[in-house]
Amino acid sequence: MPSILITGASRGIGYEFLRQYSSDTQNTVIGLVRNKLATERKVSEDTDLQGRSNIHILQADITDYNALKQAAADTADTTGGSLDYIIANAGLVPKFDLFLPIGELGKQPEELTKTFREAFEINVIGNVHLFNLFLPLVLAGQTKKVITISSGLADNSFTNKWGATPGALYAASKAAMNTVIAKFNAQYKKDGVLFLALCPGPVEVGHYDGATAADLAAVEPMLGIFREYSPGYERPKAPEVSVRMMRDVIEASSLEKGDGGAFKSHYGNQQWV
Ligand SMILES: NC(=O)c1ccc[n+]([C@@H]2O[C@H](COP(=O)([O-])OP(=O)(O)OC[C@H]3O[C@@H](n4cnc5c(N)ncnc54)[C@H](OP(=O)(O)O)[C@@H]3O)[C@@H](O)[C@H]2O)c1
Repeated sequence: MPSILITGASRGIGYEFLRQYSSDTQNTVIGLVRNKLATERKVSEDTDLQGRSNIHILQADITDYNALKQAAADTADTTGGSLDYIIANAGLVPKFDLFLPIGELGKQPEELTKTFREAFEINVIGNVHLFNLFLPLVLAGQTKKVITISSGLADNSFTNKWGATPGALYAASKAAMNTVIAKFNAQYKKDGVLFLALCPGPVEVGHYDGATAADLAAVEPMLGIFREYSPGYERPKAPEVSVRMMRDVIEASSLEKGDGGAFKSHYGNQQWV
């Protein structure tokens, strides 16, 4: 019975991971969220998910070490002490740097510092604690796959070649997380644990909801880059499509194939869009 922990399972890509993995009744799926009651209500009202007794919702803010520790203990109780997959999906996608280049962000130094700190606390430090706390369960599991949801924006060669300016603070936090994945791989590959950073590609979850005309004009050059980089690109994928593709990459990746510590896209390579 494979067991899967998904962080940020309340909405967006994480909720879709919850939906897809729990469709197999053999899987035990643990969704880690900030608001347990709201997510349990959402699941119970979702006609797709109603009655799936293999879904377990636990509560922790990823920045709360003690709550993560309790979640690891509760996961062990649910699974019998092991865990096959971690999908570290929870993340801050800040609005502050979504549209503007880093030089413009510098005109608001206090907001820049605040957002950068939050991005590191949630996207990097929280995941390091998550991995360390849940690793004893993963080592006791069968599959031993630890995945972090990264972003192609963290690929410096993409940024340099295509001049992709948005998301500077966010991308830096994801780049740091890619390095964290490599360091965990360096330590735990001898124990058979696959660590992988995986980019979902652009996915429609409402990040641009409420964008002003000026915001949309600021992001237009980025969309032009996507169209040139990936001819035929029109719009972000639906979560259902991206998650299906990522699950295929997760299943296909292994230490034996040399994937330990790698940074891959939903295509299983370095094609980000
Ligand atoms: N969408 C894309 O195009 C795209 C592209 C590349 C990478 N990604 C990555 O994909 C992952 C999922 O993003 P998404 O697009 O689905 O975004 P989203 O809809 O904004 O979802 C973010 C999730 O992270 C959770 N979260 C945020 N801060 C948290 C914290 N401090 N503690 C615990 N949970 C927290 C949120 O929970 P609440 O509901 O409690 O806020 C939510 O479940 C992120 O890591 C993101 O960087 C997304």
